[in-house]
Amino acid sequence: MNRMLVHVVMIVLVAGKASTSGTWKLTNTRVTFGKDVYLMCLLDEVECNTSKQEPDPRGWTGGPQYQLLCMDGDCRNSSKYEMITQSTSLNFGLLIHNFSESDLNHSYTCSCGFNDFHGNLSIEPKQVISLQSITKTIKDKNNINNDNMAIEIMLHKVNPVPNCSALLKGRFINDATVTVMKWYTYYNDVKVIYNFPVDSVACEGRLQILCNLVYTNVSIFDEYIDICQENNESLRTIILLAIGCCVFVMILLICIYLVKRNDTMYHLADNV
Ligand SMILES: *[C@@H]1O[C@H](CO)[C@@H](O)[C@H](O)[C@H]1NC(C)=O
Ligand SMILES: *[C@@H]1O[C@H](CO)[C@@H](O)[C@H](O)[C@H]1NC(C)=O
Ligand SMILES: *[C@@H]1O[C@H](CO)[C@@H](O)[C@H](O)[C@H]1NC(C)=O
Ligand SMILES: *[C@@H]1O[C@H](CO)[C@@H](O)[C@H](O)[C@H]1NC(C)=O
Ligand SMILES: *[C@@H]1O[C@H](CO)[C@@H](O)[C@H](O)[C@H]1NC(C)=O
Ligand SMILES: *[C@@H]1O[C@H](CO)[C@@H](O)[C@H](O)[C@H]1NC(C)=O
Ligand SMILES: *[C@@H]1O[C@H](CO)[C@@H](O)[C@H](O)[C@H]1NC(C)=O
Repeated sequence: MNRMLVHVVMIVLVAGKASTSGTWKLTNTRVTFGKDVYLMCLLDEVECNTSKQEPDPRGWTGGPQYQLLCMDGDCRNSSKYEMITQSTSLNFGLLIHNFSESDLNHSYTCSCGFNDFHGNLSIEPKQVISLQSITKTIKDKNNINNDNMAIEIMLHKVNPVPNCSALLKGRFINDATVTVMKWYTYYNDVKVIYNFPVDSVACEGRLQILCNLVYTNVSIFDEYIDICQENNESLRTIILLAIGCCVFVMILLICIYLVKRNDTMYHLADNV
């Protein structure tokens, strides 16, 4: 009889445990480093009864140090975390500001009363959008080799690896070369090289380099370019050189003529 009771109690306990379907999930399909990320705790009335006189406390624990983050709407670090509750729903959320990779791969727990729901916050690297900083390494205006002006730009901690293209006066002219310099788990360091072809038709105007980053095009270079000037200068040098040569040749010819004339005069004198 006693054993029977124990069994019944065990079954009830197991059934009670199994019926708790509460969980939390990441609501963002893609995560952008530096932006907000939203975790949602999904509960039902059995797991979280808010119609009691003294409702069960609801909160979040977790993060890099696995500590209490928020309780009943108050967060210990309000610049990093925000707890979102709704009067119409038992579900409640955790907003993580300025999301970074240090918030990833850690355990987070949402709880209501004695019910805890655990999970690891992880994401596939391909779901990450990131662009930490842009540095122009070279814009070689003076070194126009093979009729090209070289532009080199580094994109730090960027994901996914973008495609970049150049526009002159708002019109597409060419793709830029994108090379991954370093791979990390969630992003890459990337070098964008664009060789601006210098020809007589298109050597001035607004030059832009745009890179596509999932939802947006990011402008990584936007400057008014005028390299026709340099072209004209080299032309002037060539003209000056040509004139110089002409003058030199003319002087030479005059000298030769004078020498020859003197020669003929001597010969004439000899003959006479
Ligand atoms: C919630 O609590 C109230 C008051 O204690 C109780 O009457 C109700 O049955 C509870 N609901 C659930 C689903 O447990
Ligand atoms: C709050 O979070 C920010 C960003 O993670 C951190 O720099 C700061 O030190 C935290 N403040 C406290 C009091 O923990
Ligand atoms: C966001 O976090 C990064 C480091 O993860 C920090 O360098 C940056 O200053 C933070 N930005 C803001 C607005 O708090
Ligand atoms: C986070 O976990 C995933 C899956 O286990 C792993 O591939 C990744 O390298 C981890 N990231 C870090 C920064 O530890
Ligand atoms: C969560 O991550 C920790 C440390 O990376 C690991 O020990 C634990 O097994 C993970 N839990 C789940 C449910 O994946
Ligand atoms: C970049 O261009 C290549 C070839 O045109 C294409 O296969 C790839 O999907 C593009 N990547 C992005 C992020 O648009
Ligand atoms: C980004 O630029 C490409 C090519 O210039 C264009 O096809 C696309 O519509 C642009 N996307 C956005 C979101 O502006």
